[in-house]
Amino acid sequence: MEYCVNEFNLKYEVSGPRHWGEDRTLLHEGRDLTAPTHWHESGFTIEQLFDSGSYETFSEHSRSLLINSWKNAGLIVDNSFNPDQYHTLTKDYQVHLKAVEKTKLLQVSDFPVPVRQIEERISEICKVSLVARNPFDGQSIFHFRVIRPMLSDNNPLHRDVWLEDYDNCINLYIPLAGSNEKSSLIIIPGSHQWPESRIEKTGSGAVIDGVKFNVPAVTALKGSYTFERPNPLPNQVLVFSPYLIHGGAINLNTDKTRVSIEMRLWKK
Ligand SMILES: [Fe+2]
Repeated sequence: MEYCVNEFNLKYEVSGPRHWGEDRTLLHEGRDLTAPTHWHESGFTIEQLFDSGSYETFSEHSRSLLINSWKNAGLIVDNSFNPDQYHTLTKDYQVHLKAVEKTKLLQVSDFPVPVRQIEERISEICKVSLVARNPFDGQSIFHFRVIRPMLSDNNPLHRDVWLEDYDNCINLYIPLAGSNEKSSLIIIPGSHQWPESRIEKTGSGAVIDGVKFNVPAVTALKGSYTFERPNPLPNQVLVFSPYLIHGGAINLNTDKTRVSIEMRLWKK
């Protein structure tokens, strides 16, 4: 799969079988939480996250939670460590995987501010009452996504709804460190409305350069489209549809790890 974002040509090679999708539109079979908004055509928006006082608390608590998680993974790191230098701690892939285990599937009771604060803010943005609880499996979780520079830590291009239990939600990408025009999440605006027949993908979790991912990977696309890196700034949130094609976000910074919070909300 080859694609171009901000004049950078990107590419990943997928092994295994692939196929074109059926003539059906998954968004029409689920709940579109973007429907009441002015951004429903593009499927994403960038909005302010909190007032400046709450953001300061959020930012400080995120950093200490992240550093404690890395300490729990056995990394030697002090409290003043800058998270965008994480790659200097983990030269070894196994060490990195162990650290990733500690920064995913975190309970919302540990969210850096009371979770109702983010639920209320995102409900306001989506014009519907939302809660950070997955109705399919009852989980209330969030993750830190940690993408080292110039490495294949990122998911390939995909729709979240190709996985089980992500129908009907809305996705958040909150930048914490090293997130910029070279590293932030890649999306295809408007692709949440595409029929599956425009997309060729792998049959199950993709294998790229020997690394197995949970998500199937896009391997080819029909029609016209553009890729974007919306690049939310500090105290901004990227809110996007789980039906949107996204991912493939290689971190093109040579000296900065990208860290973001990933979280999903459903209608109350
Ligand atoms: Fe995703």
